[in-house]
Amino acid sequence: MPAKGDRRAALLLRQVDTAVRAALGTAGPGLGASRSATDATARALLMLILRRRATLDWLIDRFASGRTRDAVRRVLCWALAEALYMDGLPVPVIVDTAVGHLSRRSRAEASFANAVLRRILAPGREAVLAAVRAEAPPWVRLDLGQPLYSAWSSRLSPGALEALALRLQEPAPVVVRCRRGALAEGVGGIEPLPPVAWAPEGALYRCVDAAVFFASEAWQQRAFYVQDASTLLAPGLLGVRAGERVADVCCAPGGKALLLSEAAGPGGCVVCLDRSLARMGRVRENLAGAANVRLLVGDARRGPCREGAFSAVLLDVPCSNTGVVRRRPDVRWHFTPAGRDELAIEQGRILAASARLLAPGGRLVYSTCSLEPEENTAVVRGFLAQQSGYHLERECLLEPGDWHDGAYAALVCRQA
Ligand SMILES: C[S@@+](CC[C@H](N)C(=O)[O-])C[C@H]1O[C@@H](n2cnc3c(N)ncnc32)[C@H](O)[C@@H]1O
Repeated sequence: MPAKGDRRAALLLRQVDTAVRAALGTAGPGLGASRSATDATARALLMLILRRRATLDWLIDRFASGRTRDAVRRVLCWALAEALYMDGLPVPVIVDTAVGHLSRRSRAEASFANAVLRRILAPGREAVLAAVRAEAPPWVRLDLGQPLYSAWSSRLSPGALEALALRLQEPAPVVVRCRRGALAEGVGGIEPLPPVAWAPEGALYRCVDAAVFFASEAWQQRAFYVQDASTLLAPGLLGVRAGERVADVCCAPGGKALLLSEAAGPGGCVVCLDRSLARMGRVRENLAGAANVRLLVGDARRGPCREGAFSAVLLDVPCSNTGVVRRRPDVRWHFTPAGRDELAIEQGRILAASARLLAPGGRLVYSTCSLEPEENTAVVRGFLAQQSGYHLERECLLEPGDWHDGAYAALVCRQA
């Protein structure tokens, strides 16, 4: 076997091992920002492990009797993901690298890993994956956490659930928006996407060559913003007009605030609020040059803005993120009904406080990137049942599509 392949495998394994250890216990994958080819492969592999965790664990538990130490399981996951889902290194190189990595610490663990990997992989990739499809429980086959599988199977048909789970296994495309007034002509590395029904004026492009696009002058000059099409749903429904006074109540990192700022124009004003000081740093960077925005750190539930002062409010609340599982594969393992229900209570509180910011006749869009009715329509209906003087004008649930994420938005109006 070529030594170069061995070296690549060993380097990759060290990177992925560090990143998986960091990512599995936290909210998201954690490889550094370096963009070398090995880093890109390591990142792809890490995302793969985060997507396929149930299958990988099921295979390991089936062939490894007794408890497998976390450090060993991570190496087994890396080796299996590479062997079963990636087209690159030959299986013997993968197994030897994994075993070599473990033998530096413990010969017993290395020989255990050697036996487990050889037994799992002996029938060949297609046969192993066919066995998973035939024998594993449904949440494993679909690579969903069991609580998320149960929540979805209680409201989706088996066919719809399978289609959603398969869609969420695909890597998310990188989509960029050309900012109002900027020109996309002649910019390399991107392809235009068709206009979306919920925001037809949004000039969206799929990034097909990241190296070319992110080196372009247009990107350096901030003519584009990385923005999935689903994030245009809520600002599109709010329909901010030039000159309006708008509040974006949970604004960080600022993707939707940028759209509101463009729509309000030089005669308008967008007050951007978030309770996280650290995340407000990102908003400051992302909105640099937008002269009509005011940034405020504070808690939306405690009324940091004057009541009745805004004709439009955007409220993009923290949520379970089940509509963006393609970008955040860890979400599928962390979802719990109890966590969702706690979020729904919090979302209801933020909505009730934010509605008071509206002037009579004003409009508010409540939005999430969750697909769960408990965080969407139930929160809005709960609010309307408790507060008089508001009504629901429209609501929309966007299922994840071929090239966009899922999102929910509801337009609530205050009586004039
Ligand atoms: C879904 S993110 C918003 C994304 C943002 N609208 C965008 O398009 O870039 C939710 C944000 O709400 C903030 N947040 C959570 N609870 C809050 C509260 N009580 N008051 C203000 N901000 C809050 C979080 O810090 C987080 O930045």
